[in-house]
Amino acid sequence: MADEAYQYQSGFANEFASEALPGALPQGQNSPQKVKYGLYAEQLSGTAFTAPRKENRRSWTYRIRPSVMHEPFQQIDNGLICSAPFNALPPTPNQMRWNPIDMPDEPRDFVQGIVTMGGNGDASSQSGVAIHVYAANTSMSNRFFYNADGELLIVPQQGRLLLRTECGVLEVRPSEIAVLPRGIKCRVELPDGPSRGYICENYGASFRLPDLGPIGANGLANPRDFLSPVAAYEEREGDFRLVCKYQGNLWEARIKHSPLDVVAWHGNYAPYKYDLATFNCINSVSFDHPDPSIYTVISAPTDTPGTANCDFVIFPPRWMVMEHSFRPPWFHRNFMSEFMGLIVGQYDAKADGFVPGGCSLHNCMSGHGPDAATFEKASNEELKPVKQENTLAFMFETRFAVRPTPYAMETAQRQHDYYTCWQDLKKHFKA
Ligand SMILES: [Fe+2]
Repeated sequence: MADEAYQYQSGFANEFASEALPGALPQGQNSPQKVKYGLYAEQLSGTAFTAPRKENRRSWTYRIRPSVMHEPFQQIDNGLICSAPFNALPPTPNQMRWNPIDMPDEPRDFVQGIVTMGGNGDASSQSGVAIHVYAANTSMSNRFFYNADGELLIVPQQGRLLLRTECGVLEVRPSEIAVLPRGIKCRVELPDGPSRGYICENYGASFRLPDLGPIGANGLANPRDFLSPVAAYEEREGDFRLVCKYQGNLWEARIKHSPLDVVAWHGNYAPYKYDLATFNCINSVSFDHPDPSIYTVISAPTDTPGTANCDFVIFPPRWMVMEHSFRPPWFHRNFMSEFMGLIVGQYDAKADGFVPGGCSLHNCMSGHGPDAATFEKASNEELKPVKQENTLAFMFETRFAVRPTPYAMETAQRQHDYYTCWQDLKKHFKA
């Protein structure tokens, strides 16, 4: 991947500046009468113009052609992509789990490979999330995509993604994540062929680092480990298609050039990637299992403090040293709703059934926790320090209940017997 290169993001409101040709960035102003190399100046705003400074996101792009140059959009088939509001079926309080979706037999690109599992809120009022999985086997070459409905947090589980974006190129492998802000155009190549993963489409305020409170100035995900691309442009002409997701539906327009034609850009609205191995995991060194919020990587807030539209939480390899404690995640019922996925290995609350590429959903106030086999083992094992290895699970945790799609309810991948993993929990009570 010779053309990928990154600039460090030293904070989420960082101002980047990058040019693929020397002197392409205007100096001292954003929109001069003429831009060097005959480029067009175009601003991309990710927030309202008047958003407070710490929330405000915008980038200036200097491009071969402005974004307005395309033929009219026509609506196309949504495939298995669904959008909020998720009203097709009544949401179930049942615990749900799924096997990984199959790799496609037919050619399918990243956008065609997206399957929506559920979601909440309302894309048109910019609250809630949609939760998708994807399975694709074909690189996008003459098709480009952007999402007007929200930002995309992409979690590859199998196969690298090469995200060719307006701002430059990001290569993302399993155990890394990428975030594509609302509106950023891209095409997705699959250097490893068949590829699978998860997507959180965030309709609300953008993801950012959580506050650290008493943890202090360092720890969890450190800002310097978030990487954004440097400018890289395509100068290609042909019979191309620009696909957009707009208010829940896919639309397609003919376009006679690659829209990834930004020669230089500056600003604070840009895609980024993050290697989950750089997460500084903090865990209990005395007793008890902390609340899983201690593993929050990035968080998309709502107007209610501490109550996220979505938290992205990981369960990475880590030492378990808690004394006289039940070490796996305890039994619980939550205000927040939890969609989980597994990138690699095994998750410590389940002996089997939750496999890499699979997923589970435990909605608001639905009881869940370790299965019977895990409970017996964890209640009786000798509590030596143990390094939990070969594991990387994650959670999209949201304040709104996740309403499954008809696909999620009816697919053959659904494990209808999931509930049985708790039915062998023994009665130990003795008065
Ligand atoms: Fe949970």
